[in-house]
Amino acid sequence: MSKALLPVDRLVVALDVPSAGEALALARKLSGRIGMLKVGLELFCAEGPAFVRELQSLAPVFLDLKFHDIPTTVKRALEAVLTLNPRLVNVHAQGGPAMLEAAAGAVRAHRERGGTTELLAVTVLTSLDREALARLGSTAEPGDMALHLSRLAMTCGADGVVCSALEARAIRDACGENFRLLTPGIRPRGVSVQDQARVLTPAQALEEGATWLVVGRPITQAPDPIAAAEAILLEMAGS
Ligand code: C5P
Repeated sequence: MSKALLPVDRLVVALDVPSAGEALALARKLSGRIGMLKVGLELFCAEGPAFVRELQSLAPVFLDLKFHDIPTTVKRALEAVLTLNPRLVNVHAQGGPAMLEAAAGAVRAHRERGGTTELLAVTVLTSLDREALARLGSTAEPGDMALHLSRLAMTCGADGVVCSALEARAIRDACGENFRLLTPGIRPRGVSVQDQARVLTPAQALEEGATWLVVGRPITQAPDPIAAAEAILLEMAGS
């Protein structure tokens, strides 16, 4: 399924800017040249659903709100945002099987009513290294836990996961061709890695089996965001 997507459909731009004005100005520039716009907690909390509707007139939206609560609360929160019919929503896989099943049930019901949203699960935050996991009481390696949680998310009905491109190959092999893998931590050739520690180029991420690539600052902070997005699309097409 993921193989049928054009490069432009697979490029997701993280709108990590503080205001609707800045986000909409960027979105207007990038509209038609990218597949999706990612709205995170900061922007959603500041600007809310009306802003998302405006953004959706420019490109499909990934609502990156990473819900993590008891199953009923997550289901109801999802039902509230699904009225926007975002292209993607997500929850934390570490919310557990009942929560994942409740989330998948809400998204499935939405699709049965004609909605087009897909559900991703966040496996292990990349801010959690081995030592942080140990302090949380787990002896697992982050990569092993990400693989384990990906299998769980698939079993519970998620359409895919958010993962590091460095973990994508193992998850793709374990979860199959139709499972969606959305990978941040992408840096085009020759561009600063900034605060990202473990990055791959767009072409490498696709080779590792990523479905969607999330790119933020290399596009949003470029002097010419349109040229930056087009250069990334060329790298993706050449993979
Ligand atoms: O600017 P940059 O390309 O680093 O932005 C990447 C985006 O992906 C940001 O919104 C960041 O929060 C998000 N992200 C990430 N690593 C993760 C999960 C999400 O960089 N593991």
